[in-house]
Amino acid sequence: MLERITPAASLRGALRLPGDKSISHRYAMLAAIAEGVTRIRNYAPGADCRSTLECLGALGAPVEQQGHEVVIAGRGLAGLKEPAGTLDAGNSGSTLRMLSGILAAQPFSTQIAGDESLSRRPMDRIMRPLAAMGASIQAREGRYPPLEIHGGALQPIDYALPVASAQVKTCVLFAGLHAGGVTTVREPVRTRDHTELALREFGAGLEVRERVISVRGPARLTARELTVPGDLSTAAFFLVAALLVPDSELVLEQVGLNPTRAALLDFLAGMGAGISIPRVAQQAGELAGDIVVRHSRVRGGVVEGALTAALIDEIPVLAVLGAASEQGLTVRDAAELRIKETDRIATLADNLRRMGVALEVRPDGFEVPGGQSFHAAELDSFGDHRIAMAAAVAALAADGESTVAGAEAAAVSYPDFFRALAQLRA
Ligand code: S3P
Repeated sequence: MLERITPAASLRGALRLPGDKSISHRYAMLAAIAEGVTRIRNYAPGADCRSTLECLGALGAPVEQQGHEVVIAGRGLAGLKEPAGTLDAGNSGSTLRMLSGILAAQPFSTQIAGDESLSRRPMDRIMRPLAAMGASIQAREGRYPPLEIHGGALQPIDYALPVASAQVKTCVLFAGLHAGGVTTVREPVRTRDHTELALREFGAGLEVRERVISVRGPARLTARELTVPGDLSTAAFFLVAALLVPDSELVLEQVGLNPTRAALLDFLAGMGAGISIPRVAQQAGELAGDIVVRHSRVRGGVVEGALTAALIDEIPVLAVLGAASEQGLTVRDAAELRIKETDRIATLADNLRRMGVALEVRPDGFEVPGGQSFHAAELDSFGDHRIAMAAAVAALAADGESTVAGAEAAAVSYPDFFRALAQLRA
């Protein structure tokens, strides 16, 4: 699908974003192994979170969905059943990596596969700890999907994560729920803590000491009623759009403000972005509130170290902002970007260069000088939802009509993205 995007004169209005993708996956997976019926409101509508629901259904946890509300009849820790065929994680690394922690503990074997993009993403990062816990897993070339997981009784482990990855942390903790004893994960830097908050909510025995997280198994999880806050990583596209387009003011309603994700807002505010959050409320341990953003001149900045891990999903759209900022944007320590849905350093650079934006690309990051303008161009999603949405944001600030090929990729996280954008410029 080709989207045509003309420059925007201003963006104004209020927008309720889809439910947070990271939180939706976790709530659904925990609901399936909890006892009782869990109701999840504002469940993320994108294809990724639907992949999770389909996998859980195939594992024998009945899922009912009405609009954005999902009801899951939990089977308890030992109640899942062998699926009839291969589980399909689609484009979703979160589904494959996090669910594998649960699959590794089942008394049956499961195959789990994904689309072409997911089939190129490394899974040895979850295979190693799961093997240490006692599961036997085969993968294509030893590390790529599809995976064949021969589950069984697991041993607890004490595992130092070699990469900063909330997906891997979650995988090990989910496996640890099934192992008799205390499973500990040590993080190199703090990553998003939705799993920890959700585990507490579902009643698991959990201890968190800074970057050391321990869970006690076998756990008994209890069904909950939960509401997912709006997705801050999706809000990022609208934040940057409003900052770029003159005369803009947007209210992004009920967005998740979990401190392990909200580094984005501090980073933007530090650059001079006009952002305010009138009120913050807490639900199931997760913070949420409305974000008001106004068009602003931003200075630019450097993303490196722990900040890179905290902003990893927002970097494609921050690159767009960086080009228009006063001093530009430098991103370091971001080799992980190369193994996301696409090699995001390559794909974001490709689109920016098509628009006449200069940038220097490095193995683990890039440097985009500020003060640049965007020329209308034929852009491409490369099949990656965040690249599609970042391209659309850049196109809003271009000097003529741009196109985004493969725009349907946005539906992985936000099926209504282009419609929402059109409404805000109306
Ligand atoms: C996620 C963690 C991050 C992030 C992804 C969602 C999560 O991936 O990029 O979009 O929900 O835990 P990594 O764990 O690979 O860093």
